Amino acid sequence: MKISIFEDYDQLSIHVAEALLKVVLEKPDAVLCLATGETPIGTYAQVVEQARVGEVDFSKVRFVALDEWVGVPPENSGSCHFFLHKHLFEPLSINPKQVYLFDGMAKNIENECRLMDDHIAKLGGIDFMIVGIGMNGHIGFNEPGIPEDRYAHVVDLDEMTQSVGQKYFEQETILKQGITLGMQHLMEAKSVMVIANGSKKSAIVAQAIEAPISTQLPASLLRKHRDSMFFIDAAAASRLSKIKP
Ligand code: GLP
Repeated sequence: MKISIFEDYDQLSIHVAEALLKVVLEKPDAVLCLATGETPIGTYAQVVEQARVGEVDFSKVRFVALDEWVGVPPENSGSCHFFLHKHLFEPLSINPKQVYLFDGMAKNIENECRLMDDHIAKLGGIDFMIVGIGMNGHIGFNEPGIPEDRYAHVVDLDEMTQSVGQKYFEQETILKQGITLGMQHLMEAKSVMVIANGSKKSAIVAQAIEAPISTQLPASLLRKHRDSMFFIDAAAASRLSKIKP
């Protein structure tokens, strides 16, 4: 596992974007899985800017979802669907055929998981993932305690995830369940980058990197991945005991 620490959020965003653009330059039809949330907003703005100046062609890239809130429709601005369209797919003029996301409103939500598993298998697996880390160490909606051999699944959200998740919504929203790729998808992806910024993430980042690897801390499992990276800013790195920014 590689750890890179950047001076601040802007530098972090620039370097994460650079890594993503490199993947697409090397493999124009790469399969990407990109997180939603506050952390990657700066990265996606950088990516859109680079694409505008014509540096990288996204017309063949395939995108798959990481996660979604169950019961939240795509037109709700707090949904992962809405976020990805707003920050990436619309500004990059991505063809809907290039995108496969979870439907949080699906009547048969278990079937929605199997459809995603089949879709990723048909694409030949995921080339590159950018994931955030939840305040409880979750990745996607892989909450503490989830077995590491899961593919896509539906999960009852932790109380912390339910309350922290309110920040994405304009009004208070019931967030009881999530649908997510599983840790097995993450372990099988060719390359996974975990990103984090700000002092509020420093304690969980320190645990993910330095505490014993455990399913109680899903982010720590990525230390077993053959090509995983933690890209974090100095504030998020401030509680690491072994590495000083
Ligand atoms: C959310 C999402 C994750 C996201 C993480 C961090 O609950 N399920 O996919 O990466 O938590 O979010 P943020 O970047 O807003 O801190």
